This record gives sequence, structure tokens and C-alpha cells, in this order.
Amino acid sequence: MLNKTKTHIEEVARFHSDKADEIEAFRIKYLSKKGGIVTDLFAAFKDVPAEDKKEFGQVLNQLKDAVSAKIEELKANLKSGDTKPEGLDMTLPADGAFMGSRHPVSLVMNEISEIFTRLGYTISEGPEIEDDWHVFSALNFPPEHPARDMQDTFFIERNPEILLRTHTSSVQVRVMDGAKPPIRTISPGRVFRNEAISARAHCIFHQLEGLYIDENVSFADLKQTLLYFAEEFFGKGTQIRLRPSFFPFTEPSAEMDVSCTLCGGKGCNVCKHSGWLEVLGCGMVDPNVLQNCGIDSEKYTGFAFGLGMERLAMLKYGVHDLRLFFENDLRFLRQFR
Ligand code: DAH
Repeated sequence: MLNKTKTHIEEVARFHSDKADEIEAFRIKYLSKKGGIVTDLFAAFKDVPAEDKKEFGQVLNQLKDAVSAKIEELKANLKSGDTKPEGLDMTLPADGAFMGSRHPVSLVMNEISEIFTRLGYTISEGPEIEDDWHVFSALNFPPEHPARDMQDTFFIERNPEILLRTHTSSVQVRVMDGAKPPIRTISPGRVFRNEAISARAHCIFHQLEGLYIDENVSFADLKQTLLYFAEEFFGKGTQIRLRPSFFPFTEPSAEMDVSCTLCGGKGCNVCKHSGWLEVLGCGMVDPNVLQNCGIDSEKYTGFAFGLGMERLAMLKYGVHDLRLFFENDLRFLRQFR
């Protein structure tokens, strides 16, 4: 019996399995209360002659411990090899991937572009580094006009001919140059002015220029186009008001106000109790500009308008400080998702 027990110890040492049901069968084979090898050997212990009891008892305990240790070891292997560790809930929803969002100025730019493309306008672009002709001279700015002053314009390498465009009206000149009307285009883009940065002004900002040239284009067409824009952008029922103004490249010129988006015209802090908000400049393209761009001013007329994107974004989203658009603070930008 002693030898049989020692053979079992060797057998146990050799046993290996990575299957739960085989390990359970191994346990039953040795430890089952009914017919388990270890159980039976313990039962037979009482018949062992007294002088052999000590040695047999030791070997029998060795077998029992070897079986228990083997079962534990194999079960531990089973667990660590499992692809589903305890505590991992495969049904939990995954962490959401972080989604970026469009910059509010881009949102406004896209929205305005959509409004005007619905009216048949194309989108055109021009360079940010421009020459004097496209930014000033072709647009009928007299040589001594204050807008050319060093105070307003960033010049490149002290060459007064090359500069950063101060408005997107320069794109009008590029579009008209050599083109045959009808012309219907908008030009969104970045512009630069040598201004102190404050809550209301920045040295970089964005404009959108509109231009329509054809036979018999009238001021009434301009007014109707701008009313359509105002209602699409600020909402149905928005009213517009045109005030006489001056720009070198339009005659007559006007500035357009919309009924206050916050109080609807009753008067509040945003509209400074006037009920109106100034949003853009516009006018009939000056015949001199048409001639400068090679368009017959006897045959064709046209209108133009220019609006500031940041200004519109501020009104639309209730932003009170223009600098926020340029700081790239995620806490600000994430609000436009
Ligand atoms: N270029 C003007 C500015 O920067 C805005 C403007 C006014 C554009 C009237 C126009 C216009 O096309 O007709 O202030």
C-alpha cells in the first residue's frame, strides 16, 4: 500500500491539464468522499500495522497535499489565461471618442456662404498679401486717403506697394478683371489692420464680400438681397434699415442695420437702446471701379457689400469679447458643437 501511494504521488506530479472539466475529474478521482483514492487510503489507514503507521501516514499526507496543490495550481493557470478577467464588464458602453467642432467664425462663414449660394452666388478667393492696386487704387481710393496710412495697413518690408489686405473688397477687383458680366460672387477671407487689440477690435479678422454686376442692377435689388440675407441669417421677421454712408468704391453707399436680435427692436443693452444693430456696408459699385476693372460702366451696373464675420458671430452667439475668437481656448470653442 505504501508503494501504491508513492506511485500515486508520482502520477499526481505528472498530471497536467488546462481544461476545467479535466481538472474537476482529477479532483473527483482523488478527493471524492465516495471512492476517491485519497479518501479510500485514509479509510484503509486504520488497518495498517502499528509499526508502519508513522511512515504510511506521512506519505499519505504527502499525497493529499500534492493533490490539493496540483488542483490549485491548475485552476490558477486557468484564470490567468482567460481573456475575460473578473471585474471587466464587456457590456459597458465604450468611452466616447472626442469629437472636434467647427470654429464659430467658420460656422458663420459657412452659413452665409450657403445663403448666398442659394441665390446663385459663386465663392471666390484672393490672396491675403496684396498690392496697392487691388486693395486701394482700383477701388477708387484717392492717393492721400487715410486708409492707406501706416496706422491702418501692414506693409511688407517697407514696400508701400505690397501689403496685407485690409478688406476683402480686393477680391472684387480680381474677379471683375477680365470677366464678362453677369458676375455674382461672394468672397470670404481673412483681413489685417494695424489696430490695437481690444474686446471690439483685432489686427486680424474675417470679412465676406458680395458682388453682383449685370445690366440693370439697381439699389432695389441690393435692398431685397440684403433683406433676404438678414431674414435667413437672423430669423424671419428681422427688419433692415439702410443709412447713407461713404465708401470710395460705391456710390451711393449705405450702412445696413438689422432690428436688434436680442430685444427685437424694443431697445436693450446690446443695441444700446436704439433697437438697431449695425452689420454691414454696401452700395452701388462706383463706375470708376467698373472702368478700372475693364467693365463697361455705360452698360453695366452692380452692387457690393462687405460684412464682418466676427461681428456677426458675436451677435448670433452672444459673444461679448472679440478676442475669444483668436485665443483657441477649448472651453470657449467646445460650446459650438
Ligand atoms: N470694405 C469695407 C470695409 O472693410 C466694407 C464694404 C463696404 C465692402 C461697402 C463693400 C461695400 O463691398 O460695398 O469696411
